[in-house]
Amino acid sequence: MTRRVAVLISGGGSNMVALARSMTGDHPARPVLVLSNKADSAGLTRAAEMGIETAVVDHRPFDGDRSAFEAVLHDRIAAAEPDILCLAGFMRVLTAGFVERWQGRMLNIHPSLLPKYRGLHTHARALAAGDAEHGCTVHEVTPALDDGPILGQARLSIDPADTPDTLAARVLELEHQLYPAVLRRFAAGDRRVILMP
Ligand code: GRF
Repeated sequence: MTRRVAVLISGGGSNMVALARSMTGDHPARPVLVLSNKADSAGLTRAAEMGIETAVVDHRPFDGDRSAFEAVLHDRIAAAEPDILCLAGFMRVLTAGFVERWQGRMLNIHPSLLPKYRGLHTHARALAAGDAEHGCTVHEVTPALDDGPILGQARLSIDPADTPDTLAARVLELEHQLYPAVLRRFAAGDRRVILMP
């Protein structure tokens, strides 16, 4: 049975594109919705060009009322009847109330080797710490931020010449490999952890 995947974005959507491109042939899942909280997300255009249904639920009209925003967000997502939610650069923190309605069916990609560097500015923090390695993690989403069961990690060696921007670009390339690999396994009901390399 083909699993239906909704992808939530806020920006360029390069991870969304990598996920959507991977869901072909004998892949057990297909994209059914790309939703952004920002109407001007470039990822919405890319999704539409790929023939994927798109939606926008702008958080700003809700004036910080997270539960009101999340009620509308939930209903719009549910209308697409997804089996799996993939957060891919979705930049709104989701409350426990929302997460608990999707827990076990919701993945996120985070640009660090969790549990190191939850939150923002991960590349600058890894450089400031003088880490030798860095990378990205795909995990199941739980109410605690960037804290759910890890399903995959990809790592690279930090180059002494790296800046936050060059490091982010190299990690992003790993994200585009890791997330599709984890989604394919997760959609098949396999929760074995993927480690690259
Ligand atoms: C990625 O770096 C991801 O790790 C972080 O936000 C960025 C999303 O980029 N959560 P894109 O929108 O997928 O290109």
